[in-house]
Amino acid sequence: MADLTPHSTALHGRRILLGVSGSIAAYKAAPLTRLLVKAGAEVQVILTEAATAFVTPLTLGTLSKKPVLTGFLRDAAAGEWHNHVELGLWADALLIAPASANTIGQLANGLCPNLLCAVYLSARCPVFLAPAMDLDMYAHPAVTQNLARLRSFGNHVFDSPSGELASGLSGHGRMLEPEDMMAELTKFFAGFVSK
Ligand SMILES: Cc1cc2nc3c(=O)[nH]c(=O)nc-3n(C[C@H](O)[C@H](O)[C@H](O)COP(=O)(O)O)c2cc1C
Repeated sequence: MADLTPHSTALHGRRILLGVSGSIAAYKAAPLTRLLVKAGAEVQVILTEAATAFVTPLTLGTLSKKPVLTGFLRDAAAGEWHNHVELGLWADALLIAPASANTIGQLANGLCPNLLCAVYLSARCPVFLAPAMDLDMYAHPAVTQNLARLRSFGNHVFDSPSGELASGLSGHGRMLEPEDMMAELTKFFAGFVSK
């Protein structure tokens, strides 16, 4: 586990919405959640349906100490739903890690098929995205343009480091490591007065 001391001040008390989409890198949402919580952040995890095949709500709910949100509805029979507007206003930052090609495309085009996209569209806080996909997907002009579009909205897109990918190929596309994301978030929040 990384040394948590440098992160502890800037992230202490910050409300972080952690959106996890359907990439093989979703398993790294577990150590990321742990690092955020250890740094004193309040973490609310939102999983896409596809992400639940890669990492369980039980794992992330246990690590974040909060029930994980997946669909729009909390209890369909009772008419209870998760308020994406409130979630978007609650957060100090929305971090989408990993961000799949599909989710990136939906966000860049204002689509709203799931709770994570609805929260993104409602959020007034800074948004950080950590793309994660195979190298040819990452290099595709459709993905490149979608990422450029998200940057043009003022979103922070972490560059993907080069390295070995789950497919066995090597190149850009892997998700920025949780420790490096923590360093980026710490740098960002260090400019703000701590709560
Ligand atoms: C084993 C497996 C691994 C996958 N890994 C990735 C990935 O790393 N990045 C990605 O963009 N899509 C990946 N996909 C495809 C996404 O899971 C798929 O596009 C899904 O619809 C994404 O939905 P979401 O964006 O709503 O989470 C993978 C699919 C499978 C079956």
